[in-house]
Amino acid sequence: MQLAGWVHRRRDHGGLIFIDLRDSRGLVQVVFNPERSPEAHRVAQQLRAEWVAWVEGEVAERPQGTVNPNLATGEVEVYAGQAGVLNPSKTPPFEIGEEAEVDEALRMQYRFLDLRTARMQKNLILRHRVVKHIRDFLDARGFVEVETPILIKSTPEGARDYLVPSRVHPGHFYALPQSPQQLKQLLMVAGLERYFQIARCFRDEDLRADRQPEFTQLDLEMSFVEEEDILQLIEALYADIVEKVVPRLRFRQPFPRLPYQDAMARYGTDKPDLRFGLELADVTDLASTSEFQVFRAATQSGGAVKGVAAPGCAGYSRRQIEELTQFVQARGAKGLITVALPEGRQLQTLTVEEVRSPLARSVTDEQLRQLASRMGAAPGDLLLLVAGPVGVVNLALSQLRQEMGRRLDLADPNLLAFAFVVDFPLFEWNAEEGRWEPMHHMFTSARPHQWGLLEKDPGAVIGRHYDLVCNGYELAGGSIRIHEREKQERVMRLLGHTQEGMQQKFGQLLDALEYGAPPHGGIAGGIDRLVMVLSESAQSIRDVIAFPKTQNAVDLLFGAPSPVTQEQLKELHLQVVE
Ligand code: AMO
Repeated sequence: MQLAGWVHRRRDHGGLIFIDLRDSRGLVQVVFNPERSPEAHRVAQQLRAEWVAWVEGEVAERPQGTVNPNLATGEVEVYAGQAGVLNPSKTPPFEIGEEAEVDEALRMQYRFLDLRTARMQKNLILRHRVVKHIRDFLDARGFVEVETPILIKSTPEGARDYLVPSRVHPGHFYALPQSPQQLKQLLMVAGLERYFQIARCFRDEDLRADRQPEFTQLDLEMSFVEEEDILQLIEALYADIVEKVVPRLRFRQPFPRLPYQDAMARYGTDKPDLRFGLELADVTDLASTSEFQVFRAATQSGGAVKGVAAPGCAGYSRRQIEELTQFVQARGAKGLITVALPEGRQLQTLTVEEVRSPLARSVTDEQLRQLASRMGAAPGDLLLLVAGPVGVVNLALSQLRQEMGRRLDLADPNLLAFAFVVDFPLFEWNAEEGRWEPMHHMFTSARPHQWGLLEKDPGAVIGRHYDLVCNGYELAGGSIRIHEREKQERVMRLLGHTQEGMQQKFGQLLDALEYGAPPHGGIAGGIDRLVMVLSESAQSIRDVIAFPKTQNAVDLLFGAPSPVTQEQLKELHLQVVE
């Protein structure tokens, strides 16, 4: 048989040389015998890691006792008759296939080598299978994939636009789409009825482990639908992907529906990890009656006090508590108040002398018992409390909850806890800038009977918006849209757009809404995030994107972004101002 591939490993046993030869499908052991095939053996002597070689030889069962059960080809080996070098390789900057931690910057710089690892190949193949499955699933249900332009005008999703200067029209710019939102709505006006696209989106925003400046969405839109149609389709699609593509993972159906207010109250976030409990308890009312200064200050200024009971953590050392304190402080909280409940002690008769806590001197026995009971605590638990403005408390505690879940190993790695978050407010007040902002985007419709509230009490209006969350990530978000110009203009006006401004920015959509726009709605799911949660090894979405950018939006392989020549700038009528 003939083989070609990369030298994965080479072992020289003085006489015999063993080469693990690798290609995209795996490894096979090749044996070079100096007596049987002296020429091939001479070739094998030169071979080094990552050289490209060919081998011709015979497949044989491995001698007893040398079978490798960890390798798909572990029962056989190839006796080389002839061999040759197709291309030598420099010594790679890191070993391919070793589990050793390699600095990510180095992996990015040599991405073409990083992608040779079994781990990364698996992720790219998984991604391919997920996308192929999505296409087949939607095709079978009458959806049509339509490509929409990349050079377009601003399509706001709450981030900054990437701009592309026009050479032909001096001083004019295209914007790269933050999503195909307006385009898919125009396709509904165009009568498509069932559209989808595996769409690239571009957003200039602060990056995190689950955010890239360019990423991929399954973008989808349907006409003549209600929320329920979209949610059922998406549940069926995601369930099918997992069952067919990653059967080792489990999930529960139907996906629970979690109202936004509940999610915020119980988990402090609208994308909770539902693989474990550890729910937050609101103890603001109890805190407001205590003598504890931090509690009084928070509650008197309209803030909240919430906490979580960490099971079995009462024995945490001072240093461990200090670590958790720094953890919440890094997320904006002033501090962390802890109460260590003694092991083996009835909580109904607990006294303040028995707990280890900065609260001990400022609360009564009764207050302490109420606190422990409200937090659903058990003896031996460590209560973790944060006081301050509601937003700060929720942010700090939601992440502390996640951190405790990780430390206590509460999240089953083989479980996907899908849920739909629903009943979002349509708008959110931006206190810094003193204006309303859309919770999802400005094309989202209010509940039918709530349009009367729009100008009177914008904060009370519930939007027809839904998110799909899983294991602490927002996997998808969508809504039923506004399909009437008059309503769309009312929302835009509330968001601060002038009549002239809205026509200039969104005239294409507003005009289209006047030509028989059907009621419609849709959703978009992050493909990168989905593949990340389905992958066994991905630590960030960078691990499921072939050529991603770093946290600073840099491509270390190509060295992008990079300066351009004076001629290029001139052609584009641009000048760089230092
Ligand atoms: P939204 O902005 O919620 O909605 O995006 C939809 C989904 O896209 C993914 N996502 C990202 N993934 C990686 N990097 C990013 N920077 C990033 N930003 C978003 C998330 C998210 O849930 N047009 C609307 C959809 C609609 O209303 O139909 C939109 O884009 O998984």
